[in-house]
Amino acid sequence: MEKTFLMVKPDGVQRNLIGEIVGRFENKGFQLVGAKLMQIPTELAEQHYGEHKERPFFGELVDFITSGPVFAMVWEGENVISTARLMMGATNPKDSAPGTVRGDFAVTVGKNIIHGSDSPESAEREIGLFFNQEELVSYSKSSNDWIN
Ligand code: GTP
Ligand code: MG
Repeated sequence: MEKTFLMVKPDGVQRNLIGEIVGRFENKGFQLVGAKLMQIPTELAEQHYGEHKERPFFGELVDFITSGPVFAMVWEGENVISTARLMMGATNPKDSAPGTVRGDFAVTVGKNIIHGSDSPESAEREIGLFFNQEELVSYSKSSNDWIN
């Protein structure tokens, strides 16, 4: 089954949105297979956002994502990578539709609450950066019979 990496950013943790965000993905029908509250070391932040290294906001981005604890998660489900991106909303909250996480809870691009992998390649890379294989749980839920 497809997996993706999602993360409640420091602003989402500080604004008590972990439960709200986990609930949205559970209610949708996706399955949580790994999660941890953690403080991201600078080196991991730089690796995670490596694709943005040359962007003018890179330093700000790394400072922000290391400014407090994040809630890192791996979710599993049919088309979970692209569907999670839709549920997150557009990168800039001024363009995110109401009903999306960013549309409902964020106003500015630098504090947009949630991260999600944008492709199968980035999902695999990011899951590997944040989780060991032993930290991911493989299990089945009977409710899945009514979802997939
Ligand atoms: P992520 O899921 O966080 O990777 O967001 P995304 O895939 O929707 O956007 P992208 O990967 O292009 O950008 C990564 C993050 O950089 C965004 O989520 C924003 O938080 C941040 N970002 C993007 N553009 C700007 C900007 O112009 N200024 C600042 N401060 N941050 C930005
Ligand atoms: Mg991105």
